[in-house]
Amino acid sequence: MIQIKNSAEIEGMRKACRVAADVLDEMIQAVAPGISTWELDQLGKQLIEKHGATSACYRYRSGRLVFPAYTCLSVNEEIVHGIGRPEKRLHIGDIVSLDISVVFEGWVGDNARTVAVGPLQDKVERLVTVTREAFYKGMEWARKGNHVGDISYAVQRHAEAAGFGIVREFVGHGVGRGMHEEPQIPNYGYRGRGPRLAPGMTICIEPMVTLGSPSISIGEDGWVALTRDGKPASHHENTVLVTDGDPEILTVPSSGRMND
Ligand code: MF3
Ligand code: CO
Repeated sequence: MIQIKNSAEIEGMRKACRVAADVLDEMIQAVAPGISTWELDQLGKQLIEKHGATSACYRYRSGRLVFPAYTCLSVNEEIVHGIGRPEKRLHIGDIVSLDISVVFEGWVGDNARTVAVGPLQDKVERLVTVTREAFYKGMEWARKGNHVGDISYAVQRHAEAAGFGIVREFVGHGVGRGMHEEPQIPNYGYRGRGPRLAPGMTICIEPMVTLGSPSISIGEDGWVALTRDGKPASHHENTVLVTDGDPEILTVPSSGRMND
């Protein structure tokens, strides 16, 4: 069953999403050549604590695996679920996806950005831009009466028309008291298919787009998803509220910077 949030519950979501967005915004300011992903994760831990929240990722379980970090930090060919490491330092020309999921007063906020470390190769810059655009193309369909497949189709079409790949193994999702609620929001599919959207639903739309083939592998740690061809991947995510009118992004930071 897909949860419909009432106004008090939406207020809870707004607060959690603002914290998730503030943490992401503040972490993005720290992205620079030379910093390690472990240092970035430690900063994330501190910022989450500062806001009185907890990480939804820390100790997240998948089968017998337990996620050991506070944030997901995925560099270049790492697509999602990267674990910060002291030896993994950022270099000019890298891209890093920062995916921040927090719990605040019982509600989850979830958002991600892919950030450039200095100037990028043109095709990598284009990858990041198209991934962000694909998010907005999908969000445009997050309206009362539309189907989840309308979002999926719009995301896929935008990325593939630009010549990029769409990752199939991970999907967007409903979000609320739990990080992953119904419905799943694939980044591929067909218009008119899947559940219908209704006001009060809160969903994460999160395209994962590859420069080359969308085929993935999982790293030694059991978590990090990598492109098989070693080419870079980009990720862009917001928590979105379906309303009676236009869709509303809930993961807007206090600074107002969308880091788009
Ligand atoms: N934020 C990710 C998502 O959207 C979840 C990461 S959970 C982790 O689904 F434990 F794998 F980090
Ligand atoms: Co998510």
